[in-house]
Amino acid sequence: MKVKNRIVMSPMGTVAHGPEGEITDRTVIYYAERAKGGVGFIICQSSIIMRESRAPHRPSIYDDKFIPGLRRVADAIHENGSMAAFQLVHHGRLLTDYQHMVDRPEELRILGPSPIPRLLRVLEIPGAKEEQDLSIWVRGNIPPEEATREDIKRIIKAFAEAARRVKDAGFDAVEIHGGHGYLISQFLSPLANQRTDEYGGSVEKRALFACEIIDAVKQKVGIDFPVIFRFSGSDFMPGGINIDDSTRQAPLFVEAGADALDVSASEQGSIDWQYPSFLFQQGPLVHLAEAIKKAVKVPVIAVGKIVDPTFAEEVLAQGKADFVALGRALLADPEWSNKAKEGRFDDIRACIYCLNCFNFKDHPNILREGLHCSVNPALMREKEFVIVPTSLPKKIMVVGGGPAGMEAARTLQEKGHRVTLYEQDKELGGQWYVASQQAQKKHDYPKLLYYLKRGLDKAGVKVHLGTRVTPGLVKREKPNIVVIATGASPAILDIKGIDNKNVVQANDLILGKVMTGEQVVVIGGRYLGMEIADQLAGEGKKVSLVARRSLGRDIERNIYLTLRNRLIKRGVFIYQSCPVVEIRPGGIYVIFNNDLVFLEADSVVLAVGVKPEKELSTKLKGLVPEVYEIGDCVEPRDVMWAIREGAELAISI
Ligand SMILES: Cc1cc2nc3c(=O)[nH]c(=O)nc-3n(C[C@H](O)[C@H](O)[C@H](O)COP(=O)(O)O)c2cc1C
Repeated sequence: MKVKNRIVMSPMGTVAHGPEGEITDRTVIYYAERAKGGVGFIICQSSIIMRESRAPHRPSIYDDKFIPGLRRVADAIHENGSMAAFQLVHHGRLLTDYQHMVDRPEELRILGPSPIPRLLRVLEIPGAKEEQDLSIWVRGNIPPEEATREDIKRIIKAFAEAARRVKDAGFDAVEIHGGHGYLISQFLSPLANQRTDEYGGSVEKRALFACEIIDAVKQKVGIDFPVIFRFSGSDFMPGGINIDDSTRQAPLFVEAGADALDVSASEQGSIDWQYPSFLFQQGPLVHLAEAIKKAVKVPVIAVGKIVDPTFAEEVLAQGKADFVALGRALLADPEWSNKAKEGRFDDIRACIYCLNCFNFKDHPNILREGLHCSVNPALMREKEFVIVPTSLPKKIMVVGGGPAGMEAARTLQEKGHRVTLYEQDKELGGQWYVASQQAQKKHDYPKLLYYLKRGLDKAGVKVHLGTRVTPGLVKREKPNIVVIATGASPAILDIKGIDNKNVVQANDLILGKVMTGEQVVVIGGRYLGMEIADQLAGEGKKVSLVARRSLGRDIERNIYLTLRNRLIKRGVFIYQSCPVVEIRPGGIYVIFNNDLVFLEADSVVLAVGVKPEKELSTKLKGLVPEVYEIGDCVEPRDVMWAIREGAELAISI
């Protein structure tokens, strides 16, 4: 099999399937777009190989009736110039997590190598091995059934049959999912596999199940049909799979028939390693592929937060891997590969690694559409966002240069409207500009700002910085349309002492406009409050964090755990369910455990959310033929909604 470049699209569930796991149009179009974007080889998401092990939101491959749907995916990828594989999975004991979400859960067989429930992480600091002592692990309480030899035979056969369907559907290769804590990796893991028969015990015996599957698949699909084996080089679990064991197992996978190895990491308890967030540096898993590559002679694929083309090139040039796999980078920008090839690095809409794609929003649109992305509103809706030039160009004022305003302005201008963007500050970006200045986000967040700014430039949008739009200006300009994207500004609390000199806004602190004393109380238990508390504690200050309700509401769980653990480690005192009563010059009064408590502080930092800026829209009523509001000025939410609303409005005008 010959691939046109060394870029692989990593398997990613699209969360958009028919009731039985049938492929839908959205999924076909999604893959077609990625193929069009120039990636050499697409490994499509995991599919369910047995009805008795079905899980929600995944495509099915356990019956020949699914072949025509799968064929549509293979054809779409081929027509657009890439090669394609489909991935096969059995979730094993992890079905306990999904069984409440499927029809007829009583039909499921929840099997594992041993009747051991999985370990759940309560505390974990990613990225820092020496800090793993801070972790607390508890066992889940539902053990799987121990797979009998009969079960093992049935499952191996099901993998082989499913692989045959992948071939029959016209794919170029098949990938077996032996990582991420699913059934095969349960057999590979000493934590989950405590069998005393030939499938457990030594490192080699734990690899037997995987090898028998690879062998059966290979025999079924034939010598010429490539079989790729994906596994976790390390699962970063205490006593779990480590790189020394997997380096010994890798040659066994090859001997069994694997033609390439795809080296990922993690299991469900350490899932932050599977898709590293903005809290990780670039390429945190490459060293695993590098170690495996030294142990085998077949091609090895590296994955995990491979962000920039220059870094990807380095991984290849230094011989650390034969292929680089990109996941979220291709959700954010399906054209990544073409842009990289043409040297247009600055045109890439970079993933910000915010994990929103995994933060399953309980919102009807999101649930209907499937996978979603903060920076790419067109994900899974590609056809809806094709720019069609307007036949009726209009004069449009966009007010507010945050992500919503910038996205709307660029798209409107690209459609042929005459757009001017007004921003009252001297910088574009609004709250995103502030977020981009935060220490932990500096690697990834500013890239979105850069992309949006560059888009304005390239499209030719006129931008007025430091300009506050008034009804007078609108009357003079006489636009056909005004788009209001005035965003939101930091909220304050309605309590005594809020105007004291010792009170500062978190945003002002981030921007370096104000300083704090050595002893600080941060009020606000969401993202901003947690990050500011972390930052101040990191500077050596004595910090208390006060949350009116529970800590970390709305934060994606991995990121929440990381931040919370850093706070604990840095000695921040955390007060949850703790309303503030009054601010005094030397500290604040709070209600804690039904008692009035005084927390001493030289400075009080407010991170209590934002309030929408609606003033202008009220004043413009009746002045302009059409006025629209988008983004946080409608209702404060995260950046995904700002960009989405900006894009949706622009496409509709
Ligand atoms: C939305 C989403 C769905 C995923 N689904 C799968 C899957 O079906 N099978 C799999 O092996 N990995 C899956 N992964 C992991 C990716 O293949 C990849 O290993 C991971 O995202 C790290 O690569 P990245 O940093 O380039 O995103 C998924 C990741 C994401 C973000």
